[in-house]
Amino acid sequence: MSEKAKIVLDNKEHDLPVVTGSENENAIDISKLRASTGYITIDPGYKNTGATKSAITFLDGEKGILRYRGYPIEQLAANASFMEVAYLLIYGELPNAIELQLFERSIKRHTLVHEDMKRFFEAYPAKAHPMGVLSSMVSSLATFYPESQNPDRNSEAVNLTIHRLIAKLPTLAAWSYKNSMRHPFMYPHNKLDYCENFLNMMFSMPTEDYEIDPVIVDALNKLLILHADHEQNCSTSTVRIVGSSQANLYSSISAGICALWGPLHGGANQKVIEMLLKIHIDGGNVDKWVEKAKDKNDPFRLMGFGHRVYKNFDPRAKIIKKSCDDVLEKLGVNDPLLDIAKKLEKVALEDDYFKERNLYPNVDFYSGIIYKALRIPTEMFTVMFAIGRLPGWIAQWKEMTENGEPIGRPRQIYTGYNDRDYVDVSKRK
Ligand code: SDX
Repeated sequence: MSEKAKIVLDNKEHDLPVVTGSENENAIDISKLRASTGYITIDPGYKNTGATKSAITFLDGEKGILRYRGYPIEQLAANASFMEVAYLLIYGELPNAIELQLFERSIKRHTLVHEDMKRFFEAYPAKAHPMGVLSSMVSSLATFYPESQNPDRNSEAVNLTIHRLIAKLPTLAAWSYKNSMRHPFMYPHNKLDYCENFLNMMFSMPTEDYEIDPVIVDALNKLLILHADHEQNCSTSTVRIVGSSQANLYSSISAGICALWGPLHGGANQKVIEMLLKIHIDGGNVDKWVEKAKDKNDPFRLMGFGHRVYKNFDPRAKIIKKSCDDVLEKLGVNDPLLDIAKKLEKVALEDDYFKERNLYPNVDFYSGIIYKALRIPTEMFTVMFAIGRLPGWIAQWKEMTENGEPIGRPRQIYTGYNDRDYVDVSKRK
């Protein structure tokens, strides 16, 4: 592996240092490039550009590897609770029994949302998309806790904000759903664990309790773990760059929720189900829709397929696909959309267009089918992604803050007009 990179600009040689990570990934450090050469680099979408060094999540897109703090996602999904994984991502180690008990107790203490915030919900139309409600509610939390806005970010205040966010997000999410149904809000209850509490707030009514099914709780726990972090994806990069201006954590997370909403990112899980439904209604002709996805003149894309980093199977999709079969069988659900998804996957994976471009099912391809089986409404799918991703966003913001990283401010190459003089309106054509 090279110790340094050598570039020649205007007949002059420049050496650039090489940085190597703990998994032998290599990067050319260009932090002094402009000062020493006058040149910058350009890389739309940052497909080849590392924004930071991070010790939180490692993924290898070619080998389909994903690890949180060194633990393989397969082991965490099979054995851990979402609270354990949240603690691991944020604090760097799996909690021991006492640490886990104290963490869960603290989260339970903060699940209630200030009663004044209930009025905000009433102002939204019933058809308000819950991601729009959630991002503004999370941003509004900062106004109820002014101490969270101190740029000195002392660890006690930050830790309290972290616990409040993890505790309140499911409450805000469930209330945005209840609000859309114009149903009465259900309050969190301390006798329930994290996933049970969320399901209870979503589906209980004052007139009858929701019967908590361990199969559903286990599937939800697994799904949240699988979504918990994914290194420098679009929404996580958003959280980091907003936080780099010393904006408070609530505002940074609210920005992350907005970025996740996009259909090319977290919004894809909702679009996958809508796509499968469209194919089902159209008679289930999978070949026709695969051809449409390949046609450059057709805007249709196979939602849930392809990934910026995974050029092999998304390991999360493999686990979710297996869980899909288990959950639907245990719940006695026979969903024709699952059959269409499996057919679509088979046809696409045998097609040269997808094989040449390394397009495989990603985390969103099967997750919507499980959420549907868990009776989560389609418009809440991306909210589920946000609840899962919250510990990852927090961990990445915390790492960026503790490392004292500079405010994010990319450069550009200007392509507009050269210098020209103002012309009075009377003289313009
Ligand atoms: C997530 O980054 C993360 O880690 C994200 C995430 C996370 O955990 O945070 O994993 C979560 O966002 C998963 C991705 C969810 N999005 C979708 O499922 C939407 C559908 N997928 C695509 O839009 C696309 O694959 C992206 C956005 C995911 C990746 O796009 P890239 O890396 O910018 O790749 P590209 O758009 O340049 O595509 C390369 C080629 C193009 O064809 P050519 O111009 O080379 O001929 O592949 C084609 C694309 O047209 N292509 C697709 C396709 N995805 C890419 N063609 C048909 N259907 C698709 N889904």
